Amino acid sequence: MISDPPNSPKSVLLIIGGGIAAYKTLELIRQLTKRGIRTRAILTKAAEEFVTPLSVASLTGDKVYTDLFSLTDEAEMGHIQLSRSTGLLVVAPATADLMAKMAGGHANDLATTTLLATDKPVMIAPAMNVRMWQHPATQRNLKQLQADGVTVIGPDEGDMACGEYGPGRLAEPEVIAARIADFFDKSVGNGPLAGRKILVTAGPTHEPIDPVRYIANHSSGKQGFAIAASLAKRGAEVTLVSGPSRLGTPAGVKRIDVMTAAEMLAATEGLLPLDAAIFAAAVADWRVATEATQKIKKREGELPTLSLAENPDILAAISRRAEHRPPLVIGFAAETEQIIENGRAKLAKKGCDWIVANDVSPSSGTFGGDENRVFLLKGEDVEGWPKQGKDAVAESLADRIIDYFEGASS
Ligand code: C5P
Repeated sequence: MISDPPNSPKSVLLIIGGGIAAYKTLELIRQLTKRGIRTRAILTKAAEEFVTPLSVASLTGDKVYTDLFSLTDEAEMGHIQLSRSTGLLVVAPATADLMAKMAGGHANDLATTTLLATDKPVMIAPAMNVRMWQHPATQRNLKQLQADGVTVIGPDEGDMACGEYGPGRLAEPEVIAARIADFFDKSVGNGPLAGRKILVTAGPTHEPIDPVRYIANHSSGKQGFAIAASLAKRGAEVTLVSGPSRLGTPAGVKRIDVMTAAEMLAATEGLLPLDAAIFAAAVADWRVATEATQKIKKREGELPTLSLAENPDILAAISRRAEHRPPLVIGFAAETEQIIENGRAKLAKKGCDWIVANDVSPSSGTFGGDENRVFLLKGEDVEGWPKQGKDAVAESLADRIIDYFEGASS
């Protein structure tokens, strides 16, 4: 049998990959122990060329797992038990090969089987030669892993063991340990929003015109994704309903991908009842009344006419529900002028509780940028926040949401 999981609720399953940086994981284990985090380790076959199971075991104080078939209770699916025995899986160094296997869903050794079978969050700290890191295949795998909800730490830029210079060095053990500690401090189920079910919509919607064309907008999804991340860090059970976006799913967040406004509304309604709903998506106001089933042909001297139909207003629909209206409904107002006045009008029109009004005039750089200047409108109250990063806006909003729930329950 697998020995009892480490007693501490803060425990990590560290999967050590076969790269020159593998020796640094010994320091990582020390750093984790210092922070009160227990480590259980798996070594890939290649990792054993760089560190010995004995040196790892002496630092973890636990058996080291090295091979799928060495688990004495394999008949009882020991690797599945192992994959769920800790709160977090960390792959360091994540080699190009391990990343490719993870992205492709391979399961041909203990490390990859465990990674595929786990129901726990996964972090990776990549380390490899700079050209291997920059290769389109690795970058493709990286995007896939981020879309699958894997958190990526590093790599750092600097001199490499192979004599080249660039990104590809394993992040410093101290930095990896700090990120892991941060995860446990703020992970789901812990924190002031524990037990709160919260929805965040984000990104644009794409409304098809024909099989190859669509109506869209410039929304990147950054603000909504940042809000989802902040709420999850504070312990909320967050579902992110996202239109097409290239961003990775924040740690601890459940993601539902949608394309159109109609799909976004259906996904949202499917999640009710909720404690709070935040509508940060830039939903297209219109769709074409009838989507062409074949690509519309370009004809000399002729312009096609598109008739539009109005999309459902998701924020208004949820705010005005008689049944299962979330106690706190927050909308966004993207304005190019008279931000507070227009925001107030939107608050009344949509029937939501708060509006986050932001400046999206072309000079503001908000769309696709990293910064946002917002006003939080709560009924008659207005709070003007300084221009700050979208992450900072998300943190402030999450703090206001905590205040709301603390006020509501006192
Ligand atoms: O009407 P307007 O697009 O300016 O309103 C912005 C707010 O309404 C945002 O919170 C946005 O997510 C939400 N909205 C929506 N469904 C729509 C249009 C906007 O949920 N069809």
